[in-house]
Amino acid sequence: MKQDSILITGASSGIGRGLALALARPGRTLHLGGRNARNLHDVAARCIARGAEARVRVQDVREQAGMDEWITAAGPLDLVFACAGITASTQGGEDAPHEPDAQIRRMFATNVDGVINTVLPALAVMRGQPRDRDGVRGRICAMSSVAGLVSFPGTPSYCASKAAVDRFMVATGGNMARAGILLSSVCCGFVATPMTAHNTFPMPGLTQTGDAVRAILSGVARGRPRISFPWWLAAGSRFMDLLPIRVARSCYFRQPAGQAGTMPETGLEPSGAPTA
Ligand SMILES: NC(=O)c1ccc[n+]([C@@H]2O[C@H](COP(=O)([O-])OP(=O)(O)OC[C@H]3O[C@@H](n4cnc5c(N)ncnc54)[C@H](OP(=O)(O)O)[C@@H]3O)[C@@H](O)[C@H]2O)c1
Repeated sequence: MKQDSILITGASSGIGRGLALALARPGRTLHLGGRNARNLHDVAARCIARGAEARVRVQDVREQAGMDEWITAAGPLDLVFACAGITASTQGGEDAPHEPDAQIRRMFATNVDGVINTVLPALAVMRGQPRDRDGVRGRICAMSSVAGLVSFPGTPSYCASKAAVDRFMVATGGNMARAGILLSSVCCGFVATPMTAHNTFPMPGLTQTGDAVRAILSGVARGRPRISFPWWLAAGSRFMDLLPIRVARSCYFRQPAGQAGTMPETGLEPSGAPTA
């Protein structure tokens, strides 16, 4: 897999940070995006210490013009990872049974528009690149989630946004593969990152960041349209989605996840910044 030039959104934290560090080698250029400049520069310094060239871009994925300009100017690109994302839950209680309007809009703007703002300019750049000896012009990988496989009442807009990412990547990938551009969607379960660090509910199958990064890189190298892990959680989620909705809901409502106060309001502001 050619990986001389790599662009990562959400490189300032968690999975994006882990991918940047794992890919940092002499001869490679890493384009690292996020909003938290301090964290981004810290990741860049670590990548440079491993011999890579690292270029930092403080960039909100919701800003289409800025994303276009960044990604177009960064090209050529062998690998693009759309990792930027946020999560949040319902707060519960009869008075606030659904998510706040602003949270829902922010979730879609970041998780869906942010991925589209990454993938479309990346496709345009890659279309103009020559094929390598495997016939590949480039690879694009976006973070969905096993949450995108279910309609979990605790995190409605997160589930919906991740379902959209998965369908968009897998369906668009069906067309782009013929053009030599391989798209992957990552449907992973819980990964131990700042996003999940303050969850107060049990997280079955919690995967360490390094293991998640290895699974993602292995799937991307194999050109897999959908990278799912742990397999049993993905399979169980698909099974839940096949159940009659009333049966599935009665199971979901017995889960501790998504109950009021079990998920922090993380990711709504730049990582490491005060969220008050
Ligand atoms: N951790 C899990 O259990 C898990 C499971 C399934 C899927 N995922 C998905 O994997 C991806 C990475 O999650 P993570 O666990 O690594 O979370 P994380 O540690 O909270 O990192 C999230 C990253 O997204 C960036 N980000 C958020 N909003 C942004 C915006 N508007 N513009 C630009 N960057 C933005 C953050 O950077 P700044 O704060 O610097 O902007 C940060 O680098 C997300 O899409 C998440 O939904 C995570």
